[in-house]
Amino acid sequence: MGRHADQHARSLSDPEGFWGEAATAIHWDTAPTVVLDRVAEPREQWFTDGRLNTCFNALDRWVDGGDGVDEVRPDQAALVHHSPVTDTVRQWTYRELRDEVARLAGALAGLGVGAGDTVVIYMPMVPEAAMAMLACARLGAIHSVVFGGFAPRELAIRIDDARPTVVLSASCGIEGSTVLPYKPLLDAALDRAEHEPDHCVVLQRPQETADLVEGRDRDWADLVAAAEPVNCTSVGATDPLYVLYTSGTTGTPKGVVRDNGSHAVALRWSMPNVYGCGPGDVFWAASDVGWVVGHSYIVYAPLLTGCTTILYEGKPVGTPDAAAFWRVVDDHDVKVLFTAPTAFRAIRKEDPEATLLAEHDTSTLTHLFLAGERTDPNTLEWAQAVLGVPVVDHWWQTETGWPVVANCVGIELVDVKPGSAGLPVPGWDVRVVDVDGNDVAAGETGAIVLRQPLPPGMLPTLWGDDQRFLDSYLTAHPGNYLTGDGGFIDTDGYVSIMGRIDDVINVAGHRLSTGAMEEVVAAHDAVAECAVIGVADDLRGQVPLGLVVLTSGADVDPDELAAELVAAVRADIGAVAVFRRVVIVDRLPKTRSGKILRRTMRAIADGEDYALPSTIDDPAILDELGERLAAPA
Ligand code: COA
Ligand code: AMP
Repeated sequence: MGRHADQHARSLSDPEGFWGEAATAIHWDTAPTVVLDRVAEPREQWFTDGRLNTCFNALDRWVDGGDGVDEVRPDQAALVHHSPVTDTVRQWTYRELRDEVARLAGALAGLGVGAGDTVVIYMPMVPEAAMAMLACARLGAIHSVVFGGFAPRELAIRIDDARPTVVLSASCGIEGSTVLPYKPLLDAALDRAEHEPDHCVVLQRPQETADLVEGRDRDWADLVAAAEPVNCTSVGATDPLYVLYTSGTTGTPKGVVRDNGSHAVALRWSMPNVYGCGPGDVFWAASDVGWVVGHSYIVYAPLLTGCTTILYEGKPVGTPDAAAFWRVVDDHDVKVLFTAPTAFRAIRKEDPEATLLAEHDTSTLTHLFLAGERTDPNTLEWAQAVLGVPVVDHWWQTETGWPVVANCVGIELVDVKPGSAGLPVPGWDVRVVDVDGNDVAAGETGAIVLRQPLPPGMLPTLWGDDQRFLDSYLTAHPGNYLTGDGGFIDTDGYVSIMGRIDDVINVAGHRLSTGAMEEVVAAHDAVAECAVIGVADDLRGQVPLGLVVLTSGADVDPDELAAELVAAVRADIGAVAVFRRVVIVDRLPKTRSGKILRRTMRAIADGEDYALPSTIDDPAILDELGERLAAPA
């Protein structure tokens, strides 16, 4: 057996031994005596009786050490903010970052935030966003970061579900060359929401000054300047660290809960083993703190490991050019870069020969990791050819918190098979099953499930809705977690992810719910019925397409209606949905029981072959649909 196969086999045959050893890399206030606890079945709990603080492990332990901690790096850069959109680069050592975070935590404590309270963070890619997450962790408070690209309606839904004591925000974000005021979006969300936080703390950026509401709103800088630093609060391993909302199949997002103990152990293990990075290495996840990649690999994992992490405020192209990524790698000696394939497609489109790369020294880079959507072999081969390093597609989800399928380069670099996300990572028993839950043969496509026990880092529940957690993930095939993705495993054990088998879509690596868009479209008076499906897109992988049936007698101009629907989705969900095309149809194809045939419509839109569903009500609709979709957009 190769080293990877060996570790994988051990992780499944002896999870207690495997993860018990991994847990020794974490500083515990009370070391756990229990590793895997099955009392909470059908889910598992890890390190149940352990106590720790995640912020201590991410910051203080690198500054002051602690019991059994033999390595400190107080003067090493912990966080670098590289922001071409503001033309600034700033950095904080571990000591400086710890001190900032300790004061911010003191400021939050002064506003009444304590262990178990929730705090919503709605911020652009500024270093204060990462500091805010760590400050919450320091207090044992539960943060819920909402991606800055979401519109007020989406923010309001999350505020009502998370019920924060305090909301942290900023005066603006900067998208390319556009300054986007955030405070009006926050105010609009708070107007819509039923829940009222006690306070909002607003970071005033030089590009925009937000109006503050007397009594409720506080100025970030003033508040922090007046605060005293506070120490870390010890919490139970299974206490929640954060809630991160992600798109499900309905319009109501799922509040994925992450605990403190198992999260720290899993992420700390993943850095050397999956990514090949240890203390002192520079790690750059070019994502956003509003997504799980940002939580795990901009903030927590690199800091838990003593790396330098880069928080990048810009785009791969246009800020100012297609050399943006090469510049960051060169300037900061990045060892590992992690981003979405879309970013590389965008760079390639602008600079197909990668001529701009010649102006930069990227020799520190050892690997490029891609996730968020499938890496098409074309993009993988291009990236590999221009960068001259292995390019690793790897697969995981908000729910899993860290990679499930990858080429674990820190254990053993196995052959890269373009089109496949690699091998199951130690800890994960990945299976492909048919509708009855039976394992399918190698090479056959089915639903991808993860067999229990699930490793540390995996979500323990959904915030405030344990029944939805059980129904969404653990009920379809008892003993297995349903991922929502389809794919196959080949005879060498490589896993290929072929896409979602539910109504979730990935637009430029951003996970979105077509159900949420349908709710907005269906609310228009002229719309009798609608379906939003994800169709293939050269740049973003997938984009949504709205199919609309008009109410009888509706007298509307199709172009005007389309423009109104596009504007509505942009206003209610956000520009990030990239909902730009609406097609009016006479009828939607359905099964005889009335279920809309979304997958068939998607195949037609993508020009793929499809089998005529045996349950279809009226096959003629498919020809009509094909004609409408073939008409110029
Ligand atoms: N706040 C506000 N608006 C945002 C936003 C944010 N954080 N992120 C995106 N938007 C807006 C964009 O400005 C754009 O608005 P527009 O319609 O007015 O132009 C819209 O949402 C669509 O955004 P996007 O799809 O990102 O398009 P883009 O043209 O700005 O950039 C790419 C295209 C490919 C460069 C970009 O999508 C990209 O870098 N993708 C990689 C994504 C990624 O890292 N995903 C994380 C998972 S690992
Ligand atoms: P998120 O929860 O936002 O991280 O999105 C997770 C979803 O993105 C997965 O369920 C997949 O559908 C998709 N995804 C992530 N990484 C990959 C990958 N490497 N290949 C294919 N799909 C991916």
